[in-house]
This record gives sequence, structure tokens and C-alpha cells, in this order.
Amino acid sequence: MKKVTIRVPATTANLGPGFDAFGCALSLYTDVTFEETEYGLEITGCEEEFTGPDNLAYVSYCAVLASLSEEVRGIKIHIDAQIPIGRGLGSSAALLVAGAMGANVLRGNKMSTQGLLNITNAMEGHPDNLAPAFYGGLTASMVDNGLPVTVNFPLHPEWEFLALVPDFPLATHFARSVLPTEYNRADAVYNIAHGAMVLKALELGDEKLLRNAMQDRIHQPYRKKLIADYEAIEGLIRTTSAGFCLSGAGPTLLCITRDPKLQEKLAKKLDDITEAKWEMIPLHIEFEGARVIDQE
Ligand code: HSE
Repeated sequence: MKKVTIRVPATTANLGPGFDAFGCALSLYTDVTFEETEYGLEITGCEEEFTGPDNLAYVSYCAVLASLSEEVRGIKIHIDAQIPIGRGLGSSAALLVAGAMGANVLRGNKMSTQGLLNITNAMEGHPDNLAPAFYGGLTASMVDNGLPVTVNFPLHPEWEFLALVPDFPLATHFARSVLPTEYNRADAVYNIAHGAMVLKALELGDEKLLRNAMQDRIHQPYRKKLIADYEAIEGLIRTTSAGFCLSGAGPTLLCITRDPKLQEKLAKKLDDITEAKWEMIPLHIEFEGARVIDQE
């Protein structure tokens, strides 16, 4: 029976003003192994509650097989996840991407990456985590006539990412439910202008420009109240040279900097100003997207 292991990078979506559009792949991974069997579904490596047929890796595996008009046979899925669950670092997108790619590889690679992105985007609803998980690097995506269109942007190689990950999760659907359904023109213009500047600052390695550009009026002002310590941590980061934003829908907070000593500087102060427990995870840009790391 055929077996394949897919490695998918973590992703940070939005990058401040690029709500539902910008995303970047980071050096933290979820590996998912798919092994075809005669009959049934077996999922290991995760909490019991995720071992049923609604597991996202299995749902997207089945969706790709359906789209290929291929039969779903038995399957064993093993998940080895470094990406923390429910923290705004693309853990759900990683499972969707792994399932889609796993099905495609096991059945002869008939579908393109764009085809896999189309199928998974129909399930997720926005491509900002999926696109960098598939392609790696920094991406911007739009959805046109229901289909995602993605481009990669250049990135200065010396950026350091520091994820501040709390000991509590935040459900994306809840973090979306607190957002307004309409925005005024000034806020729309603010985000368009700041978003364009974020992309240029990331390309140039311009920390000062990035720090100013990574401000947003579409989602962060509404979500910050859901995250204990958000304002205290933002205040602390504002005393450094780093750019700061919510990672995806949160609750992880993200610093982007050229200063290799940022973690050391924050370590001395973070515990004193926070109520929750925050783990600091230093990360790099992952320029390679989802890939096969083992195949039998
Ligand atoms: N763009 C999404 C959001 C990311 O901020 O809600 C989470 O999938």
C-alpha cells in the first residue's frame, strides 16, 4: 500500500493591514503521513476529538479525491504537529494543505498546486494562510469569481520573526464575529495605503517603514479586547524598533525585526507586564511551501 508524508509550514496571515489577503510562511512545521489501507479511517497523533471523519486533513483528502473522480479507500493518517493549534499560526490551513497534497501525490499528481488551492480555498473561505502554506514565502491573494489568485512578493533575507504565543487559544470564527460588517472610506483607504507600504518595507528590509505601515483599522482594533495582555505587549514592542501585529486572527502576537537581540530584550520584561503565560518562538521566513518529505 502506498504511503506519503507531507510537510507544511506554519503561516502568519494579515501582517497587520493585509486582512484576508497577505500571508507569510514560517519555519515551524506540521508533518502528516497518509497510508492507504484496505478499509476504514484511522487518525493518530492528535487529540481524540480530532480523530473522526471531520478531521481537516481527511476532509480535504476526500475533497481532492472527489474532484479527481477517484474512490476513497481506507486510509491511516498520522499527524506530527509543531504548529500550535488555535493560535493564529495556520494549524488548520496546514492540515487542509497536507490532506490535499497527500491525496494528489498518492493518486499520481494529476492536479496542479493552483487546483489544490482552489479546492482548499472553497473549504477555508480565504486564501491568506493556504497560499503561503502551498507556495512558501510572502504572498498576497485575491479571490476573483470565486477562485484564488496568488502572487509571491520578494522579502529581504534578514528579517527575524518572533511569535509571542499565549497559553490560551482563540477560535477564528469567534475572532471574525466581533468585526464590523461595514467600514467607512477613511478606514478602507488607510488599510490600502498601509498594506502597500508593508509589502515594500518587507522587500527593502526597512524596519522603520514596516513599523509604521503595520497598522490596521479593519480587524486589530476590534480583536485586541479578546486578548488579555494585547495592549501591554503592544506598548512594550513599541519601545523597540520592531514591527508588531496580530498573527492571523490571533491570539499569537508577532514581531518582525532586523534586531537579532529582540528576544533577549523582551525576555527580561514580558513576564512582568503580562497576566497569561506567553512563549516566545523565534522563527525565520520559510521560502519553500508544502512538500513531500517521505514516500514509499
Ligand atoms: N485572515 C483571517 C482572519 C486569518 O484574520 O480572520 C485567519 O484564517
